[in-house]
Amino acid sequence: MKELNIAIAGLGVVGSEVARIITKEAEMLASQAGMRLQLVAVSARSNRDRGFLMHGIDFVADAAQLAARKEVDIVVELIGGAEGVALDLCRSALINGKHVVSANKAMIAHHGHELALCAEEQDVQLSFEAAVAGGIPAIKLLREGLSANRIEQVTGILNGTCNYILTEMTQTGRSFADVLAEAQAKGYAEAEPSFDVDGIDAAHKLAILAAIAYGQKIDFDQVQIAGIRAISDIDIGFAADLGYVIKLLGNAVRGAVPGVQPCLVAQDSQLAKIDGALNAVAYSGSPVQSVVCTGPGAGDGPTASAVLADIIDIARGHRAYPFGRPVATLEDKANRREIAPGRYYLRMMVEDQIGVLNAVTAILRDHDISVESMLQKGRSDNAPVHLVLTTHATKKQAVEAACDSLRAASFIAGDILALPIMAGE
Ligand SMILES: NC(=O)c1ccc[n+]([C@@H]2O[C@H](COP(=O)([O-])OP(=O)(O)OC[C@H]3O[C@@H](n4cnc5c(N)ncnc54)[C@H](OP(=O)(O)O)[C@@H]3O)[C@@H](O)[C@H]2O)c1
Repeated sequence: MKELNIAIAGLGVVGSEVARIITKEAEMLASQAGMRLQLVAVSARSNRDRGFLMHGIDFVADAAQLAARKEVDIVVELIGGAEGVALDLCRSALINGKHVVSANKAMIAHHGHELALCAEEQDVQLSFEAAVAGGIPAIKLLREGLSANRIEQVTGILNGTCNYILTEMTQTGRSFADVLAEAQAKGYAEAEPSFDVDGIDAAHKLAILAAIAYGQKIDFDQVQIAGIRAISDIDIGFAADLGYVIKLLGNAVRGAVPGVQPCLVAQDSQLAKIDGALNAVAYSGSPVQSVVCTGPGAGDGPTASAVLADIIDIARGHRAYPFGRPVATLEDKANRREIAPGRYYLRMMVEDQIGVLNAVTAILRDHDISVESMLQKGRSDNAPVHLVLTTHATKKQAVEAACDSLRAASFIAGDILALPIMAGE
Protein backbone atom coordinates (compact mmCIF):
# COMPACT_ATOMS: atom_id res chain seq x y z
CA MET A 1 0.00 0.00 0.00
CA LYS A 2 1.28 3.47 -0.84
CA GLU A 3 2.20 5.86 1.96
CA LEU A 4 1.47 9.52 2.50
CA ASN A 5 4.03 11.19 4.74
CA ILE A 6 2.71 13.77 7.16
CA ALA A 7 4.41 16.38 9.31
CA ILE A 8 2.49 18.15 12.07
CA ALA A 9 3.53 21.57 13.39
CA GLY A 10 1.90 22.30 16.73
CA LEU A 11 1.03 19.60 19.25
CA GLY A 12 -1.50 21.39 21.41
CA VAL A 13 -5.21 20.63 21.77
CA VAL A 14 -5.71 19.86 18.08
CA GLY A 15 -2.24 18.76 16.93
CA SER A 16 -1.75 16.11 19.61
CA GLU A 17 -5.22 14.68 18.93
CA VAL A 18 -4.54 14.49 15.19
CA ALA A 19 -1.21 12.77 15.90
CA ARG A 20 -2.86 10.40 18.38
CA ILE A 21 -5.52 9.33 15.87
CA ILE A 22 -3.01 8.91 13.02
CA THR A 23 -0.84 6.67 15.19
CA LYS A 24 -3.63 4.72 16.91
CA GLU A 25 -6.17 4.37 14.09
CA ALA A 26 -3.74 3.53 11.30
CA GLU A 27 -5.78 0.65 9.84
CA MET A 28 -9.09 2.51 9.80
CA LEU A 29 -7.49 5.61 8.24
CA ALA A 30 -5.62 3.53 5.63
CA SER A 31 -8.83 1.86 4.51
CA GLN A 32 -10.56 5.23 4.19
CA ALA A 33 -7.65 6.98 2.52
CA GLY A 34 -6.55 4.16 0.25
CA MET A 35 -3.01 4.64 1.47
CA ARG A 36 -1.13 4.57 4.76
CA LEU A 37 -0.99 7.87 6.62
CA GLN A 38 2.49 7.96 8.04
CA LEU A 39 3.38 10.56 10.67
CA VAL A 40 7.06 11.20 10.02
CA ALA A 41 7.84 14.45 11.88
CA VAL A 42 6.33 16.79 14.44
CA SER A 43 7.22 20.14 15.91
CA ALA A 44 6.22 22.07 19.05
CA ARG A 45 7.94 24.44 21.43
CA SER A 46 8.80 21.64 23.84
CA ASN A 47 9.40 17.93 23.27
CA ARG A 48 7.29 16.22 25.90
CA ASP A 49 4.81 13.37 26.13
CA ARG A 50 1.68 14.29 24.15
CA GLY A 51 -0.27 11.05 24.56
CA PHE A 52 0.98 9.23 21.45
CA LEU A 53 3.99 7.04 20.71
CA MET A 54 6.86 8.94 19.10
CA HIS A 55 8.37 5.72 17.71
CA GLY A 56 9.65 6.44 14.19
CA ILE A 57 8.60 10.10 14.37
CA ASP A 58 11.19 12.88 14.34
CA PHE A 59 10.78 15.80 16.71
CA VAL A 60 11.95 19.01 15.05
CA ALA A 61 12.50 22.04 17.26
CA ASP A 62 12.31 24.51 14.38
CA ALA A 63 8.91 24.10 12.69
CA ALA A 64 10.18 25.85 9.55
CA GLN A 65 12.37 22.82 8.83
CA LEU A 66 9.29 20.67 8.19
CA ALA A 67 8.67 22.55 4.96
CA ALA A 68 12.06 21.57 3.60
CA ARG A 69 12.04 17.85 4.46
CA LYS A 70 12.11 15.81 1.29
CA GLU A 71 10.03 12.88 2.50
CA VAL A 72 7.11 15.06 3.71
CA ASP A 73 4.03 15.14 1.45
CA ILE A 74 1.65 17.11 3.70
CA VAL A 75 2.45 19.78 6.27
CA VAL A 76 -0.31 20.10 8.85
CA GLU A 77 -0.12 23.52 10.51
CA LEU A 78 -1.72 23.53 13.97
CA ILE A 79 0.24 26.29 15.69
CA GLY A 80 -2.15 29.22 15.19
CA GLY A 81 -1.73 32.96 14.75
CA ALA A 82 -2.37 35.04 11.65
CA GLU A 83 1.30 35.66 10.98
CA GLY A 84 4.69 34.48 12.23
CA VAL A 85 5.76 30.85 12.35
CA ALA A 86 2.45 29.48 11.06
CA LEU A 87 2.31 31.71 7.97
CA ASP A 88 6.01 31.32 7.20
CA LEU A 89 5.70 27.55 7.45
CA CYS A 90 2.61 27.32 5.22
CA ARG A 91 4.12 29.63 2.62
CA SER A 92 7.39 27.75 2.40
CA ALA A 93 5.70 24.33 2.48
CA LEU A 94 3.51 25.30 -0.50
CA ILE A 95 6.46 26.80 -2.36
CA ASN A 96 8.33 23.54 -1.78
CA GLY A 97 5.45 21.61 -3.36
CA LYS A 98 3.91 20.19 -0.16
CA HIS A 99 0.18 20.03 0.44
CA VAL A 100 -0.87 22.13 3.43
CA VAL A 101 -3.69 21.43 5.87
CA SER A 102 -4.43 24.01 8.53
CA ALA A 103 -7.08 24.82 11.16
CA ASN A 104 -5.89 28.40 11.37
CA LYS A 105 -8.83 30.74 10.65
CA ALA A 106 -6.90 33.89 11.55
CA MET A 107 -4.20 33.08 8.99
CA ILE A 108 -6.69 32.09 6.27
CA ALA A 109 -8.86 35.16 6.91
CA HIS A 110 -5.86 37.45 6.50
CA HIS A 111 -3.65 35.57 4.02
CA GLY A 112 -5.92 32.94 2.44
CA HIS A 113 -5.81 34.51 -0.98
CA GLU A 114 -2.02 34.65 -1.12
CA LEU A 115 -1.69 31.07 0.14
CA ALA A 116 -4.35 29.77 -2.25
CA LEU A 117 -2.52 31.39 -5.16
CA CYS A 118 0.71 29.80 -4.04
CA ALA A 119 -1.00 26.38 -3.85
CA GLU A 120 -2.40 26.82 -7.36
CA GLU A 121 0.99 27.79 -8.77
CA GLN A 122 2.63 24.72 -7.21
CA ASP A 123 -0.31 22.45 -8.10
CA VAL A 124 -0.74 21.34 -4.49
CA GLN A 125 -3.71 21.42 -2.14
CA LEU A 126 -4.37 24.01 0.57
CA SER A 127 -7.17 22.82 2.88
CA PHE A 128 -8.67 24.42 5.98
CA GLU A 129 -11.94 22.68 6.78
CA ALA A 130 -11.18 22.79 10.52
CA ALA A 131 -10.80 26.57 10.42
CA VAL A 132 -14.58 27.06 10.27
CA ALA A 133 -17.03 25.52 12.73
CA GLY A 134 -14.69 22.71 13.90
CA GLY A 135 -16.41 19.38 13.39
CA ILE A 136 -19.10 20.66 11.01
CA PRO A 137 -18.03 20.18 7.38
CA ALA A 138 -19.11 23.76 6.69
CA ILE A 139 -16.64 24.47 3.90
CA LYS A 140 -17.09 21.16 2.10
CA LEU A 141 -20.86 21.51 2.28
CA LEU A 142 -20.74 24.97 0.77
CA ARG A 143 -17.94 24.49 -1.75
CA GLU A 144 -18.76 20.98 -2.97
CA GLY A 145 -22.24 20.01 -1.79
CA LEU A 146 -23.86 23.33 -2.74
CA SER A 147 -21.63 24.19 -5.70
CA ALA A 148 -24.58 24.36 -8.12
CA ASN A 149 -26.35 27.01 -6.06
CA ARG A 150 -26.53 30.75 -6.18
CA ILE A 151 -26.04 31.33 -2.46
CA GLU A 152 -27.99 34.33 -1.14
CA GLN A 153 -27.25 34.18 2.56
CA VAL A 154 -24.82 32.55 5.00
CA THR A 155 -25.73 32.73 8.66
CA GLY A 156 -23.92 31.02 11.47
CA ILE A 157 -23.36 30.55 15.15
CA LEU A 158 -19.64 30.40 14.66
CA ASN A 159 -18.14 30.79 18.10
CA GLY A 160 -18.79 28.13 20.71
CA THR A 161 -17.51 30.21 23.62
CA CYS A 162 -19.98 33.03 22.94
CA ASN A 163 -22.81 30.59 22.38
CA TYR A 164 -21.96 28.85 25.65
CA ILE A 165 -21.92 32.16 27.55
CA LEU A 166 -25.20 33.39 26.03
CA THR A 167 -26.87 30.02 26.62
CA GLU A 168 -25.79 30.02 30.29
CA MET A 169 -27.00 33.60 30.70
CA THR A 170 -30.35 32.62 29.15
CA GLN A 171 -30.81 29.46 31.19
CA THR A 172 -29.57 30.74 34.57
CA GLY A 173 -30.19 34.50 34.45
CA ARG A 174 -26.57 35.13 35.45
CA SER A 175 -24.48 38.08 34.28
CA PHE A 176 -21.98 38.05 31.40
CA ALA A 177 -19.02 38.60 33.78
CA ASP A 178 -20.10 35.79 36.07
CA VAL A 179 -20.57 33.24 33.28
CA LEU A 180 -17.34 34.29 31.55
CA ALA A 181 -15.37 33.82 34.80
CA GLU A 182 -16.84 30.33 35.22
CA ALA A 183 -16.17 29.43 31.58
CA GLN A 184 -12.54 30.51 32.03
CA ALA A 185 -12.21 28.44 35.22
CA LYS A 186 -13.56 25.36 33.39
CA GLY A 187 -11.28 25.95 30.39
CA TYR A 188 -14.16 26.70 27.98
CA ALA A 189 -12.92 30.26 27.49
CA GLU A 190 -9.38 31.58 27.12
CA ALA A 191 -7.79 33.58 29.95
CA GLU A 192 -7.59 36.38 27.36
CA PRO A 193 -11.09 36.04 25.87
CA SER A 194 -11.21 39.02 23.47
CA PHE A 195 -10.83 37.00 20.26
CA ASP A 196 -13.94 35.07 21.17
CA VAL A 197 -16.18 37.50 23.08
CA ASP A 198 -15.40 40.50 20.87
CA GLY A 199 -16.50 38.56 17.79
CA ILE A 200 -13.12 38.43 16.01
CA ASP A 201 -12.92 34.64 15.84
CA ALA A 202 -16.45 34.44 14.40
CA ALA A 203 -15.55 37.19 11.92
CA HIS A 204 -12.52 35.23 10.68
CA LYS A 205 -14.81 32.28 9.96
CA LEU A 206 -17.52 34.41 8.37
CA ALA A 207 -14.96 36.07 6.08
CA ILE A 208 -13.85 32.64 4.87
CA LEU A 209 -17.40 31.42 4.25
CA ALA A 210 -18.44 34.66 2.52
CA ALA A 211 -15.45 34.45 0.17
CA ILE A 212 -16.38 30.90 -0.83
CA ALA A 213 -20.13 31.58 -1.03
CA TYR A 214 -19.84 34.66 -3.25
CA GLY A 215 -16.64 33.94 -5.20
CA GLN A 216 -14.81 36.91 -3.72
CA LYS A 217 -11.29 37.50 -2.55
CA ILE A 218 -11.27 37.16 1.18
CA ASP A 219 -11.79 40.54 2.84
CA PHE A 220 -11.62 40.38 6.61
CA ASP A 221 -11.43 44.15 7.02
CA GLN A 222 -14.90 44.56 5.50
CA VAL A 223 -16.56 42.47 8.21
CA GLN A 224 -18.41 44.65 10.73
CA ILE A 225 -17.82 43.19 14.15
CA ALA A 226 -19.62 43.55 17.48
CA GLY A 227 -19.11 41.06 20.29
CA ILE A 228 -21.21 40.09 23.28
CA ARG A 229 -19.68 42.16 26.12
CA ALA A 230 -22.53 44.70 25.95
CA ILE A 231 -25.20 42.03 26.42
CA SER A 232 -26.54 42.12 29.97
CA ASP A 233 -28.82 39.78 31.86
CA ILE A 234 -31.38 42.59 31.46
CA ASP A 235 -31.28 42.14 27.67
CA ILE A 236 -31.55 38.37 27.98
CA GLY A 237 -34.64 38.88 30.18
CA PHE A 238 -36.26 41.45 27.88
CA ALA A 239 -35.57 39.27 24.84
CA ALA A 240 -37.26 36.30 26.56
CA ASP A 241 -40.28 38.46 27.42
CA LEU A 242 -40.53 39.34 23.73
CA GLY A 243 -40.21 35.69 22.59
CA TYR A 244 -36.55 35.74 21.54
CA VAL A 245 -33.11 34.51 22.56
CA ILE A 246 -29.91 36.43 21.92
CA LYS A 247 -27.28 34.72 19.74
CA LEU A 248 -24.00 35.95 18.32
CA LEU A 249 -24.57 35.51 14.59
CA GLY A 250 -22.31 35.87 11.61
CA ASN A 251 -24.38 36.98 8.67
CA ALA A 252 -23.27 37.45 5.06
CA VAL A 253 -25.97 38.37 2.57
CA ARG A 254 -25.01 38.38 -1.13
CA GLY A 255 -23.73 41.82 -2.08
CA ALA A 256 -24.05 43.28 1.42
CA VAL A 257 -21.43 44.04 4.04
CA PRO A 258 -20.93 40.91 6.18
CA GLY A 259 -21.31 41.31 9.92
CA VAL A 260 -20.92 39.55 13.23
CA GLN A 261 -23.17 40.81 15.99
CA PRO A 262 -25.55 39.70 18.71
CA CYS A 263 -29.06 39.34 17.32
CA LEU A 264 -32.50 38.50 18.63
CA VAL A 265 -33.61 35.16 17.25
CA ALA A 266 -37.18 33.85 17.62
CA GLN A 267 -37.36 31.22 20.36
CA ASP A 268 -38.97 28.68 18.03
CA SER A 269 -36.40 29.08 15.22
CA GLN A 270 -33.73 26.48 14.45
CA LEU A 271 -30.83 28.72 15.43
CA ALA A 272 -32.40 29.54 18.80
CA LYS A 273 -32.17 25.88 19.74
CA ILE A 274 -28.41 25.61 19.13
CA ASP A 275 -27.27 25.67 22.74
CA GLY A 276 -24.01 25.57 24.66
CA ALA A 277 -20.75 25.25 22.75
CA LEU A 278 -22.45 23.96 19.59
CA ASN A 279 -22.07 25.78 16.29
CA ALA A 280 -24.48 25.98 13.37
CA VAL A 281 -24.23 27.14 9.80
CA ALA A 282 -27.23 27.96 7.61
CA TYR A 283 -26.97 28.43 3.86
CA SER A 284 -29.81 29.64 1.72
CA GLY A 285 -29.82 29.87 -2.02
CA SER A 286 -31.29 28.58 -5.20
CA PRO A 287 -32.18 25.87 -6.06
CA VAL A 288 -31.51 24.22 -2.68
CA GLN A 289 -33.60 26.67 -0.59
CA SER A 290 -32.17 26.28 2.91
CA VAL A 291 -29.68 23.94 4.57
CA VAL A 292 -28.76 24.06 8.26
CA CYS A 293 -25.91 22.07 9.70
CA THR A 294 -25.06 21.85 13.38
CA GLY A 295 -22.37 20.22 15.51
CA PRO A 296 -19.41 20.81 17.79
CA GLY A 297 -17.48 23.87 16.63
CA ALA A 298 -14.29 23.27 18.58
CA GLY A 299 -12.44 20.86 20.84
CA ASP A 300 -9.80 18.24 20.18
CA GLY A 301 -11.96 15.50 18.63
CA PRO A 302 -14.25 17.59 16.40
CA THR A 303 -11.38 19.70 15.09
CA ALA A 304 -9.16 16.67 14.52
CA SER A 305 -12.05 15.09 12.60
CA ALA A 306 -12.01 17.99 10.12
CA VAL A 307 -8.20 18.06 9.83
CA LEU A 308 -8.11 14.32 9.13
CA ALA A 309 -10.88 14.60 6.54
CA ASP A 310 -8.72 17.12 4.67
CA ILE A 311 -5.75 14.74 4.84
CA ILE A 312 -7.87 11.81 3.60
CA ASP A 313 -9.18 13.93 0.72
CA ILE A 314 -5.61 14.59 -0.37
CA ALA A 315 -4.76 10.88 -0.08
CA ARG A 316 -7.79 10.03 -2.24
CA GLY A 317 -6.64 12.49 -4.85
CA HIS A 318 -9.59 14.83 -4.35
CA ARG A 319 -8.57 18.33 -5.32
CA ALA A 320 -10.51 21.55 -4.85
CA TYR A 321 -9.67 25.20 -5.25
CA PRO A 322 -9.46 26.42 -1.64
CA PHE A 323 -12.09 29.11 -2.30
CA GLY A 324 -14.06 27.05 -4.80
CA ARG A 325 -12.56 28.57 -7.94
CA PRO A 326 -9.19 29.79 -9.24
CA VAL A 327 -7.90 32.84 -7.36
CA ALA A 328 -7.66 34.84 -10.61
CA THR A 329 -11.42 34.52 -11.07
CA LEU A 330 -12.36 35.63 -7.55
CA GLU A 331 -13.97 39.07 -7.51
CA ASP A 332 -11.86 41.83 -6.08
CA LYS A 333 -14.58 44.09 -4.78
CA ALA A 334 -18.07 43.06 -3.91
CA ASN A 335 -21.16 45.13 -4.42
CA ARG A 336 -21.34 46.39 -0.82
CA ARG A 337 -24.93 47.48 -0.64
CA GLU A 338 -26.52 48.32 2.66
CA ILE A 339 -28.06 45.46 4.57
CA ALA A 340 -31.82 45.24 3.91
CA PRO A 341 -34.08 47.02 6.41
CA GLY A 342 -35.05 44.90 9.40
CA ARG A 343 -36.58 45.13 12.83
CA TYR A 344 -34.48 46.25 15.79
CA TYR A 345 -34.41 45.89 19.56
CA LEU A 346 -33.39 49.10 21.37
CA ARG A 347 -32.57 49.13 25.09
CA MET A 348 -31.83 52.31 27.02
CA MET A 349 -31.95 53.75 30.52
CA VAL A 350 -34.27 56.73 30.78
CA GLU A 351 -34.99 59.16 33.57
CA ASP A 352 -38.28 58.21 35.17
CA GLN A 353 -40.10 61.43 34.29
CA ILE A 354 -43.40 62.32 32.70
CA GLY A 355 -43.08 62.93 28.95
CA VAL A 356 -39.92 60.87 28.44
CA LEU A 357 -41.63 58.12 26.44
CA ASN A 358 -43.07 60.72 24.09
CA ALA A 359 -39.67 62.33 23.72
CA VAL A 360 -38.03 58.98 22.85
CA THR A 361 -40.65 58.11 20.23
CA ALA A 362 -40.40 61.63 18.79
CA ILE A 363 -36.65 61.18 18.23
CA LEU A 364 -37.26 57.82 16.58
CA ARG A 365 -40.00 59.30 14.43
CA ASP A 366 -37.60 62.05 13.31
CA HIS A 367 -35.40 59.24 11.94
CA ASP A 368 -38.31 57.51 10.18
CA ILE A 369 -38.40 54.74 12.75
CA SER A 370 -41.77 53.48 13.89
CA VAL A 371 -42.12 51.68 17.18
CA GLU A 372 -43.66 48.23 17.26
CA SER A 373 -43.66 47.56 21.01
CA MET A 374 -42.41 49.09 24.23
CA LEU A 375 -41.47 47.52 27.58
CA GLN A 376 -40.38 49.28 30.74
CA LYS A 377 -38.90 47.68 33.84
CA GLY A 378 -37.46 48.63 37.24
CA ARG A 379 -39.66 51.54 38.20
CA SER A 380 -38.40 53.16 41.39
CA ASP A 381 -38.68 56.71 42.69
CA ASN A 382 -36.71 59.09 40.50
CA ALA A 383 -34.13 56.43 39.53
CA PRO A 384 -33.55 55.78 35.80
CA VAL A 385 -35.48 52.80 34.43
CA HIS A 386 -34.83 50.37 31.61
CA LEU A 387 -36.84 51.00 28.49
CA VAL A 388 -36.94 48.55 25.61
CA LEU A 389 -38.46 49.21 22.21
CA THR A 390 -38.83 47.04 19.18
CA THR A 391 -39.12 48.76 15.84
CA HIS A 392 -40.81 47.98 12.56
CA ALA A 393 -38.45 47.32 9.63
CA THR A 394 -35.97 50.15 9.38
CA LYS A 395 -32.58 50.90 7.90
CA LYS A 396 -29.45 50.24 9.94
CA GLN A 397 -28.19 53.79 9.31
CA ALA A 398 -31.45 55.23 10.65
CA VAL A 399 -31.07 53.20 13.84
CA GLU A 400 -27.48 54.35 14.27
CA ALA A 401 -28.41 57.99 13.74
CA ALA A 402 -31.36 57.71 16.13
CA CYS A 403 -29.13 56.16 18.80
CA ASP A 404 -26.72 59.10 18.42
CA SER A 405 -29.59 61.57 18.89
CA LEU A 406 -30.89 59.65 21.90
CA ARG A 407 -27.43 59.56 23.51
CA ALA A 408 -27.34 63.34 23.33
CA ALA A 409 -30.74 63.69 25.06
CA SER A 410 -30.76 64.82 28.69
CA PHE A 411 -33.25 62.16 29.80
CA ILE A 412 -31.05 59.23 28.68
CA ALA A 413 -28.74 57.69 31.30
CA GLY A 414 -25.99 55.28 30.23
CA ASP A 415 -25.48 53.73 26.82
CA ILE A 416 -28.01 52.49 24.31
CA LEU A 417 -27.94 49.01 22.84
CA ALA A 418 -29.38 48.33 19.38
CA LEU A 419 -29.64 44.72 18.20
CA PRO A 420 -31.13 43.43 14.96
CA ILE A 421 -34.09 41.07 15.21
CA MET A 422 -33.56 38.23 12.75
CA ALA A 423 -36.35 37.58 10.33
CA GLY A 424 -37.75 34.08 11.04
CA GLU A 425 -35.80 31.19 9.53
N1 LIG B 1 -8.69 24.23 19.97
C1 LIG B 1 -9.75 24.18 19.18
O1 LIG B 1 -10.82 23.70 19.57
C2 LIG B 1 -9.65 24.66 17.76
C3 LIG B 1 -10.78 24.58 16.92
C4 LIG B 1 -10.68 25.00 15.59
C5 LIG B 1 -9.49 25.52 15.13
N2 LIG B 1 -8.41 25.62 15.99
C6 LIG B 1 -7.17 26.17 15.45
O2 LIG B 1 -6.17 25.16 15.50
C7 LIG B 1 -4.90 25.76 15.71
C8 LIG B 1 -4.26 25.13 16.95
O3 LIG B 1 -5.10 25.37 18.06
P1 LIG B 1 -4.86 24.63 19.47
O4 LIG B 1 -6.06 24.90 20.29
O5 LIG B 1 -4.41 23.23 19.26
O6 LIG B 1 -3.65 25.50 20.04
P2 LIG B 1 -2.70 25.18 21.28
O7 LIG B 1 -3.32 24.14 22.14
O8 LIG B 1 -2.33 26.48 21.87
O9 LIG B 1 -1.42 24.53 20.59
C9 LIG B 1 -0.51 25.26 19.85
C10 LIG B 1 0.69 24.38 19.60
O10 LIG B 1 1.61 25.11 18.81
C11 LIG B 1 2.91 24.92 19.35
N3 LIG B 1 3.74 26.06 18.99
C12 LIG B 1 3.63 27.34 19.38
N4 LIG B 1 4.61 28.09 18.85
C13 LIG B 1 5.35 27.23 18.11
C14 LIG B 1 6.51 27.37 17.33
N5 LIG B 1 7.13 28.55 17.19
N6 LIG B 1 7.02 26.27 16.71
C15 LIG B 1 6.42 25.07 16.84
N7 LIG B 1 5.32 24.87 17.58
C16 LIG B 1 4.81 25.94 18.20
C17 LIG B 1 2.69 24.79 20.83
O11 LIG B 1 3.83 24.12 21.40
P3 LIG B 1 3.91 23.75 22.97
O12 LIG B 1 2.80 22.77 23.21
O13 LIG B 1 5.24 23.15 23.14
O14 LIG B 1 3.71 25.03 23.72
C18 LIG B 1 1.43 23.95 20.87
O15 LIG B 1 1.73 22.58 20.82
C19 LIG B 1 -5.16 27.27 15.83
O16 LIG B 1 -4.99 27.87 14.57
C20 LIG B 1 -6.63 27.34 16.24
O17 LIG B 1 -7.24 28.54 15.85
C21 LIG B 1 -8.47 25.20 17.27
